[in-house]
Amino acid sequence: MDSVAQVLRNHPNAYVIGGGSNILLVHDLDRVVLINKLRGIEIKHLAHDKILVKAGAGVIWDDLVDFCVSKSYYGIENLTAIPGSVGAAPMQNIGAYGVELKDVFLELKAMHRETQEIHIFTTQDCQFGYRSSIFKNHLKDQYIITEVSLLLSKEKSLNTSYAPVNMAVEKLSKEASISDVRDIIRDIRWSKLPRPSKLGNAGSFFKNPIISKSLFSDIQKKYPSIPSYPALNGIKVPAGWLIEQAGWKGKKIGETGCHQKQSLVIVNYGEATGEEIYNHAVKVQASIESMFNIELEMEVNIVGGI
Ligand code: EPU
Repeated sequence: MDSVAQVLRNHPNAYVIGGGSNILLVHDLDRVVLINKLRGIEIKHLAHDKILVKAGAGVIWDDLVDFCVSKSYYGIENLTAIPGSVGAAPMQNIGAYGVELKDVFLELKAMHRETQEIHIFTTQDCQFGYRSSIFKNHLKDQYIITEVSLLLSKEKSLNTSYAPVNMAVEKLSKEASISDVRDIIRDIRWSKLPRPSKLGNAGSFFKNPIISKSLFSDIQKKYPSIPSYPALNGIKVPAGWLIEQAGWKGKKIGETGCHQKQSLVIVNYGEATGEEIYNHAVKVQASIESMFNIELEMEVNIVGGI
């Protein structure tokens, strides 16, 4: 950890990345880039079938899921195959198939960039929200996450609330195990989402917007089949559905476009620059705004200035 502090003292403006899977580099950076490689997984058995799993922020997230599934530690199997590192997981409160990181989160350690002091953040301190945390808001660029602790369960408990997961579990001829769920999630994920190693992408490019009930019922009059989910302060609608209605699904423009199976993912067919991808995203945003009066918020971190 001393060496991280030393690098920060020498390069106070260093840009820190984990796996780099949720950033769009729009221009070259003229500063040092630090890749977080803090490794290591530790466990501590607690009372009541609980297990504390502590991982270095540089551990590959899916390696941690593998480890926990192999030991039958329940809680993160639905977060299978999410690209990126452990340190990035709380940053944006990763979520998929009915589970969010905050559901299993205990605390994290982070180094303050200016003082190089290590601080502990509990769930409450992190102010988790939908794809957000204090590290994307008030404390943006102020801390480097070094270690994340999760509270998992040794007692069997699987979340099959997401309809396609439930259907796949029902089809099994036996009771689903934790590794069955991991396999099912992996299959669902890769049936819709392009693998970043094969086709450049950063997952969902936009957040699913939460809109007012009155705007929702206006849209529903014209599009009765619009999917929706209840949300705290309104109604959440899938951005992928809106983008598809606007005609962007599978449309290739130059070397970029919205993916053919999941419009929410903007892909790089090979040679698109970060700026071209960003410009495409802005066009998509403008068309959703004019068609539905909904402002889409980018979920991917735009790096390098616009
Ligand atoms: N849909 C369309 N057209 C599309 C895409 C989706 O009509 O092109 C519809 C689907 O039919 C479905 C609804 O939109 O009715 C929702 O689609 P899906 O279940 O694929 O999920 P999503 O809301 O598009 C979110 C997360 C994903 C996560 C999945 C599964 C966000 C921004 N994205 O996508 O997370 O894997 O749910 O839980 O919340 C990521 O964050 O990078 C990511 C991939």
